[in-house]
Amino acid sequence: MTDTLCNIAMIGLGVMGRNLALNLLDNQFKVAGFDLNPKLVKQAQDEASQLGKGQFLSCQSLAEILSSLEKPRIIALSVPAGKAVDSVIASLIDAGIEANDIVIDTGNSLWTDTIARDETYNTLFKFFSTAVSGGEIGARFGPALMASGCAASWQHIQPMWEAIAAKVDQSGLQLPPLSSGEPCAAYIGPSGSGHYVKMVHNGIEYADMQLICEVYQFLHQVLNMPAREIGQVFAQWNKGILNSYLMEISADILQQQDPATKKPLVEMILDKAGQKGTGLWTAVTSLEAGCPAPTIAQAVYARSLSGLKDQRTLAAKSLQVITDTAISINKDTAIEQLHDALYCAKLCAYAQGFELMKTTAQQQDWQLDFASIAKIWRAGCIIRAIFLQSIADAYTAQPELNNLLLDSTFSHELELRQLNWRKAVANASLLGVSCPGISSALNYFDAMCSETLPANLLQAQRDYFGSHTYSRIDRPEDEKFHFMWNQSPRTEVKISD
Ligand code: 6PG
Repeated sequence: MTDTLCNIAMIGLGVMGRNLALNLLDNQFKVAGFDLNPKLVKQAQDEASQLGKGQFLSCQSLAEILSSLEKPRIIALSVPAGKAVDSVIASLIDAGIEANDIVIDTGNSLWTDTIARDETYNTLFKFFSTAVSGGEIGARFGPALMASGCAASWQHIQPMWEAIAAKVDQSGLQLPPLSSGEPCAAYIGPSGSGHYVKMVHNGIEYADMQLICEVYQFLHQVLNMPAREIGQVFAQWNKGILNSYLMEISADILQQQDPATKKPLVEMILDKAGQKGTGLWTAVTSLEAGCPAPTIAQAVYARSLSGLKDQRTLAAKSLQVITDTAISINKDTAIEQLHDALYCAKLCAYAQGFELMKTTAQQQDWQLDFASIAKIWRAGCIIRAIFLQSIADAYTAQPELNNLLLDSTFSHELELRQLNWRKAVANASLLGVSCPGISSALNYFDAMCSETLPANLLQAQRDYFGSHTYSRIDRPEDEKFHFMWNQSPRTEVKISD
């Protein structure tokens, strides 16, 4: 029970909501909790009592939630993205929420839904959002928080979010829970921008995961390395420039034995990947914005392809994969090549993600601070990596950086590691090992480094069959021409505006 009004309410006490509530209690806040499922309310109450910190008030109704909060009321929603958000909001409106109250959507909502909700609800209360990354452990002991909405609301929320967020030290390394340090929580900008940035985070997460999986596949399939040994290689890589949470957990996963069969557990897990949709949203957004993110898109396709298990099984039995049997692979060399390939491909995936954020920020008129975004991703979130400190440094030195690949630290790394990356892709291709992420990143890099692309021929093709016109290299770009490809005499005409 609380003896005074609560600082914040948590509606939705599933794993994320409950852990965020416990994290708030750990930081001595007073939290009111509600869930339609009484069992979840009881579980939160029991865990809060065991914790013995802060004050937790379990509420039986939204009316009770509203009467238990200091004003302006701050109400965080931790419910599934989509209809559930609007349904809880409708109930809050019925229960008497007021114009100055702040409702924070902490789910993985689609950013355009967040913008629409802000427009729909802003006369009734202040709609705010905070995208949370870090899964259940992050929520409990320090997530990365990407807040957006009206800046005045942020003033009320900031102390709580900064308290519960993951913290880093001066060199960007994650500190233990409840340490003081730089919080991985930031106000990203106007409505929708926080969810947008989180969506791109997830797109990068998809790419990062896929790239690691491709390396595992090569090591396992070509070098016949047992899962445990691959795990050891990953654990070693995790001590260097490839240090990341995803590398760390992959190393751990690969060294885990299945209690039932005593085989590596990973080999007992069906190779069909699930997805909730945020990676897909990132890929779709990149296509719509005309901002290429091929490595992220390939990571989404790779999950879809993994789902075609029956078709893959049939093709594997029916089609002959002709590989270069003459090629000889030295184990140590191949491992080194894959290390460098992983680094370079990962860098391209991040470059694509940051370019995407930049493009959409221009389209939406958001002033995104990329150094700040890289900083809050250094800890707490799923893509946390040592590498993010270098990205933060790059954007701190040059806030208007054209593309992450052009930063001097990264361009130097690309120079050093590029040949190994090419060899890894070439070997995988010659040996029939699918590596869509690593190879699409190399294609992105090569296209980005090509002053001339064959789009001249493509424009000519478009003009040939559809009179779609083209620009000439010897004339200003806005002057358009059409060639009479099928007429005699074949002449070029300038198309006037
Ligand atoms: C995070 C994660 C989190 C979650 C995704 C995974 O940042 O904490 O990204 O949001 O794990 O929902 O989504 P998929 O099910 O699509 O892999």
